[in-house]
Amino acid sequence: MELLDNLKWRYAAKAMNGKKVSEDKINNIIEAISLSPTSSGLQPFEVLIIKNQAIKEQIKPIAWNQSVITDCSHLLVFAAWDTYTEDRINKMFDLTNTIRGFKNEGWENYRQMLLNMYPQKDPEENFIHASKQAYIAFSNAVTAAAFEKVDSTPIEGFDPNALDKILGLREKGLRSCVLLPIGYRDEENDWLAKLPKVRKSREDLITVID
Ligand SMILES: Cc1cc2nc3c(=O)[nH]c(=O)nc-3n(C[C@H](O)[C@H](O)[C@H](O)COP(=O)(O)O)c2cc1C
Repeated sequence: MELLDNLKWRYAAKAMNGKKVSEDKINNIIEAISLSPTSSGLQPFEVLIIKNQAIKEQIKPIAWNQSVITDCSHLLVFAAWDTYTEDRINKMFDLTNTIRGFKNEGWENYRQMLLNMYPQKDPEENFIHASKQAYIAFSNAVTAAAFEKVDSTPIEGFDPNALDKILGLREKGLRSCVLLPIGYRDEENDWLAKLPKVRKSREDLITVID
């Protein structure tokens, strides 16, 4: 199965060789991010694509000096909404109405329910919910990259507050949650490149309830 072959091929590359990934491949990865499901379809996150080498150099020290930050081709930063606001919710519901070309009572009631629920909640709780949605898209990006035979490294090992400052995310109502450098593996210098994948047993992972 092509999907499983690609997932077996991919791994969290620890060293990349600086080779550039074509914009066609990056576009396909972006499309996979965009097509990801999110709670109520709100897509409560944005993705920054950093190609600028000087900015990557600035980020590396606040990301445990991981070499893939600077040796990747494109550095994706997944940044979730810092909270749900009325304006953000309305924008997505209005977009749905515009694209579908009609208003629907059930949908409008659902909008009202969300408006009565999310904006009143603790912003931290909302951010955690929004960041979960970002992770769904992030996971699709990892899979899409593998489909493009492009390497990627999921990275949570960074200081989000420091990164938010570097990229001015808080001013935009965003908070960074996870990074995905995309590029090509440096097989010779990557200690992990040739090691077998480790996954727990099916029994420890799956419970079937007949
Ligand atoms: C959310 C998340 C955060 C991660 N953060 C890091 C990281 O900061 N640095 C790193 O080298 N690997 C990181 N990893 C990679 C994992 O260690 C790796 O996916 C796991 O060991 C399974 O190995 P595989 O992806 O090579 O199959 C992260 C993975 C995920 C999903």
